[in-house]
Amino acid sequence: MGLFGNKTAKSSGAHQWRGVIEEYRDRLPVSAKTPIVSLREGGTPLIYACYLSELLGNDVWIKFEGTNPTGSFKDRGMTMAISKAAEDGAKAVICASTGNTSASAAAYAVKAGMRPVVLIPNGKIAMGKLAQAIAHDSTILQVNGNFDDCLTLARDLATDYPVALVNSVNPYRIEGQKTGAFEVVDLLGDAPDLHVLPVGNAGNITAYWKGYREYNQDRISSKLPQMWGFQAAGSAPIVKNKTITNPETIATAIRIGNPASWAQAIEARDSSGGVIDSVTDREILAAYRLIAAKEGIFVEPSSAAGLAGLIKYKKAKKLPTGKKIVITVTGHGLKDVQWALEGAAKPKIVPVNAKAAAKALGL
Ligand code: F0G
Repeated sequence: MGLFGNKTAKSSGAHQWRGVIEEYRDRLPVSAKTPIVSLREGGTPLIYACYLSELLGNDVWIKFEGTNPTGSFKDRGMTMAISKAAEDGAKAVICASTGNTSASAAAYAVKAGMRPVVLIPNGKIAMGKLAQAIAHDSTILQVNGNFDDCLTLARDLATDYPVALVNSVNPYRIEGQKTGAFEVVDLLGDAPDLHVLPVGNAGNITAYWKGYREYNQDRISSKLPQMWGFQAAGSAPIVKNKTITNPETIATAIRIGNPASWAQAIEARDSSGGVIDSVTDREILAAYRLIAAKEGIFVEPSSAAGLAGLIKYKKAKKLPTGKKIVITVTGHGLKDVQWALEGAAKPKIVPVNAKAAAKALGL
């Protein structure tokens, strides 16, 4: 048993997913001395998408990361980063965030008895994520600047003051996040042909590629997928091959102009024979609505960038057919409900009367 609980309740013999460190311990840099700080993250559903498979002419699977404890894929990396920070005796952790990293860092930090400090771009994070940082008792600074400025500030503070940096520049974050690729291969029996995901600070594409490569080197998978990443058009530094000073997009989670893992993302793209391209806000919102309305999966707008990219490539006749495609949808729709409500018709008001209700329903 680690320092932070995770007692095993043995009553009926029921088995609970143990969290990514316990499930993949032999593939992660932890030892018997590492106190494991976990909220039983990972083990997320890989869902076959009937409608999207038909639409795109491929076998499409959705890796739904919104079901993690704090509602995004960040928890996979945070269990590692916070466990290692605890091993080092850290009392406080800091991160810059567009919202999800801060929600995750705060939850795992308080679980470990540490103080979370989060730096967020002023006015540019979704309300659900801000609520999470507040609920998990973090000290929040709204920085007059964008995410990239917040990350610079977080790095400076971590260099000069006693706070551990838990952004994805912390290599333990990437280690934890690579378990997403392990789960895909474990569930499908091999790597897919294409793995598609949104790109912001570029940690996740780096992590998935690392995970796929490790499994392939150990012959657990027979092949490697092409990595397909999509940025928002107004925040697409990798596509444009230049830093964007004032990144803009409604997909605030990926509103990033100077990704920390830029070089690693290029490496993943090139050595996998994949692509990194951009999608407009309009394309992102259309995909965001489609996956909720047709597949029953509610994601935040940024998470729909991958699907938006596939639809764009299909329309341009640049999408192969008959392939196995996995799309990681990175965060839960409940974090940022504004875009679901925007422009939606108000529900009709009816009396407690079956006839009137039936009429309103057109039955
Ligand atoms: N999707 C969501 C929902 C995110 O929150 C992020 C990044 C990404 C995709 C992009 O992943 O940065 O690894 O390329 N969010 C960070 C944050 C920046 O602060 O929460 P990436």
